[in-house]
Amino acid sequence: MSVTAQDVPGGPGVTGADAPQGPMLTVEHLSMYFDGIVAVDDVSFGAERGRITGIIGPNGAGKTTVFNCITGFYRPSVGRIALDHEGGSFLLERMEGFRIARDAGVGRTFQNIRLFPRMTVLENLLVAQHTKLMRASAFSIAGLLGLKRFRDAEDAAVEVARGWLARLGLIPLADREAGTLAHGIQRKIEIARAMCSEPKLLCLDEPAAGLNPRESEELNRLLLGIRSDYGTGILLIEHDMSVVMKISDHVVVLDHGAKIAEGTPEAVRHDPAVIRAYLGEEEGLPEVVAGDIAADTKGEGS
Ligand SMILES: Nc1ncnc2c1ncn2[C@@H]1O[C@H](COP(=O)(O)OP(=O)(O)OP(=O)(O)O)[C@@H](O)[C@H]1O
Ligand SMILES: [Mg+2]
Repeated sequence: MSVTAQDVPGGPGVTGADAPQGPMLTVEHLSMYFDGIVAVDDVSFGAERGRITGIIGPNGAGKTTVFNCITGFYRPSVGRIALDHEGGSFLLERMEGFRIARDAGVGRTFQNIRLFPRMTVLENLLVAQHTKLMRASAFSIAGLLGLKRFRDAEDAAVEVARGWLARLGLIPLADREAGTLAHGIQRKIEIARAMCSEPKLLCLDEPAAGLNPRESEELNRLLLGIRSDYGTGILLIEHDMSVVMKISDHVVVLDHGAKIAEGTPEAVRHDPAVIRAYLGEEEGLPEVVAGDIAADTKGEGS
């Protein structure tokens, strides 16, 4: 398989190309306001390459909004979001979303799955590589129609896609329409699609939502494999504690838009402010979270 964590092309946002030190992603004093609603309130945290950084918090805590700021769907009201890797240094809050994906090497999946439902699984994975293909065509019809370079790039794109399908056990489904497949399969395809663009930073918004315990276990193995095989930095929003607490290296906790705790999974799960944030909720409490945290806390005490 030819996917590597190398060679994200530079672009106009690149401000330096030396191998960086410290966290790959640095979020500083990020705030996002919507007509009087403070969705994200002065949040700062870092995420490292080859590490999984979990982002947890009750419903409406601001998790997805943080992702939308990092990936360029929203322009933050305040704050700085810096990404540093061997492809360059980028200030994401100043970049258009498509350049954040293409030039800075940030991939994402969505809380509500966003595959192209009428395309096949393989086509979904090829679409993710359109930038590489367009570059190979030299953005010309002649290139698209005949250039060997384009045909080679197309073959390489199919190889990358097949590699991910094989890794996920999805080869038999390659020609099926994505929208007809089971929810758990679609979640896997979304991750494979994001990985096809060879991101340095992969942002996953509740990838375990709707998965059964066996599928969650598979997801854990997949994410640990991506981390170790590609050195990808992973930002993981998740309510499922059996995923986030098991595989995260570091966990950031948001509540009402603000960061209320961060640290190792062990430290965070025993943090009184975190327990209060989850258990103090009367409505909309994700039971799996409350249950897991309460059970963990009880288990420790007894
Ligand atoms: N485009 C928007 N316009 C107005 N308010 C928004 C917008 N996007 C998010 N919000 C508000 O920002 C707050 C944080 O929402 P967000 O979706 O980031 O939470 P979340 O932590 O991802 O929650 P969940 O766990 O339910 O997915 C909520 O009050 C939400 O209603
Ligand atoms: Mg969300």
